[in-house]
Amino acid sequence: MSKQFDVVVIGGGPGGYIAAIRSAQLGFSVACIDEWKNAKGGPAPGGTCTNVGCIPSKALLQSSEHYEQANHHFADHGIEVKGLSLDVAKMLARKDTVVKQNNDGILYLFKKNKITFFHGRGAFKGVANGAYQLTVGEEELTAKQVIVATGSNARALPGTPFDEENILSNDGALRVGAVPKKLGLIGAGVIGLEMGSVWRRLGAEVTVLEGLPTFLGAVDEQIAKEAKKAFDKQGLKIELGVKIGDIKSGKKGVSVAYTNAKGEAQSLDVDKLIVSIGRVPNTIGLNVEAVGLQLDERGAIVVDDECKTNLPGVWAIGDVVRGPMLAHKAEEEGVAVAERIAGQHGHVNFNTIPWVIYTNPEIAWVGQTEQQLKQAGRAYKAGTFPFLANGRARALGDTTGMVKMLADATTDEILGVHIVGPMASELIAECVVAMEFRASSEDIARICHAHPSLSEATKEAALAVEKRTLNF
Ligand code: FAD
Ligand code: NAI
Repeated sequence: MSKQFDVVVIGGGPGGYIAAIRSAQLGFSVACIDEWKNAKGGPAPGGTCTNVGCIPSKALLQSSEHYEQANHHFADHGIEVKGLSLDVAKMLARKDTVVKQNNDGILYLFKKNKITFFHGRGAFKGVANGAYQLTVGEEELTAKQVIVATGSNARALPGTPFDEENILSNDGALRVGAVPKKLGLIGAGVIGLEMGSVWRRLGAEVTVLEGLPTFLGAVDEQIAKEAKKAFDKQGLKIELGVKIGDIKSGKKGVSVAYTNAKGEAQSLDVDKLIVSIGRVPNTIGLNVEAVGLQLDERGAIVVDDECKTNLPGVWAIGDVVRGPMLAHKAEEEGVAVAERIAGQHGHVNFNTIPWVIYTNPEIAWVGQTEQQLKQAGRAYKAGTFPFLANGRARALGDTTGMVKMLADATTDEILGVHIVGPMASELIAECVVAMEFRASSEDIARICHAHPSLSEATKEAALAVEKRTLNF
């Protein structure tokens, strides 16, 4: 007997589980199907984000940053640490506990919201009378509304599959059992920089090989330059403009042949290699053919601005569709789709989705970069303020970086804010709010910010737009 629901969500990552919760809040009967297994084979909802993405990477970034601080920076505060040692197994176990807490939290939320959870692979079987039939193992489910949130997988280099021993995706990169002496990464994107930072802090000699000639091309140039300076100082070796050749993996490690930016043949010998060259949308096993769900040439599910697919009643959200592959983007789409199913006006503002790279210094931004504004021929004013002139940053002992605000030359509306420096991940939230409310730089400049706080740097950057900083 088929089990009937108003809404079935396939995928229990941040897109899917949030879509399920919002749908349940709106009064629908909801099922969520997710196939992720924990080490014991049990359910581990939360998707890439919870299991091998946002959460475990941030846990290791935190642990490794503590180690780095104790190793190199406590002395500046008059704290002497003798006999400092590293227990990688314990660090990884703590990370696994954090992941499990999140898995359990989501299972609790399913119960709390009366969402029926199915552990297994969901697939389309067919459609009859406007209702979709889906299978999960032996079970059959029926629903008129289906939300597909099946996420993405790491992209491998052609001819070099991940073995998660020597050649690692984000999954293997998060569970290397001992600090490799030499670690190579291909791709100086978000994962390359975050995971490279983790293992460098823990003592690995890290080399990142990047195909593009510019560092962090999507980031505001001035901010990317400042970040690169900091990474260089830390000893994170980043080579730009390379072309990757043959990769050989054996008992002794991995050898990567490549051509450098000057066209010279080079080779990099490392103990482990992380390949972080982007991710591909995942529809494996979904049996889209059974219902004729349309995919594009990249394998992403084709959706319109409202996440509607080519099939009535079938929606798709998160990493499996166009747009940035970010957990909070997936969540916003999940909420919006549930509200649209309920006849409301779900809304996602793509112009104000923040980005954060959790390195040290952190990099965070919202809105347009200076190069984008130039390219669009938009007249703008820019204001920057360095953390060097911020009292709280000095007290923290972390004065790298700046806040940069870009505002329309005529209306003064904030068009973008770019931060490199301490707690940029938290500071960006104020800027997102400001942009959502279409604030001007003067609005931020006139708002009282607590002293001493890093957020004063944002206020000062706003003052800098009109060249009237008070502390610089
Ligand atoms: P996913 O999280 O991938 O979830 C999809 C789920 O669907 C999975 O559980 C999968 O098992 C399940 N599934 C797939 N097919 C089926 C099926 N047929 N049946 C049943 N279940 C199925 N983003 C941020 O915003 N901040 C970060 O700090 C951040 N850090 C990251 C770090 C790393 C190392 C990585 C790899 C990614 C990171 N991301 C981060 C990106 C973020 O993880 C993704 O954007 C986010 O997880 C996408 O959510 P989703 O719900 O679309 O898909
Ligand atoms: P990415 O798109 O951020 O970076 C990939 C990098 O690899 C790019 O710089 C690209 O030019 C380079 N590259 C691609 N092919 C190459 C090749 N053949 N040789 C050399 N370099 C090559 O992708 P990444 O780092 O794999 O992360 C995937 C996605 O996961 C991110 O785009 C982001 O959406 C998400 N993510 C988000 C995080 C966050 O929000 N803090 C953290 C980690 C991941």
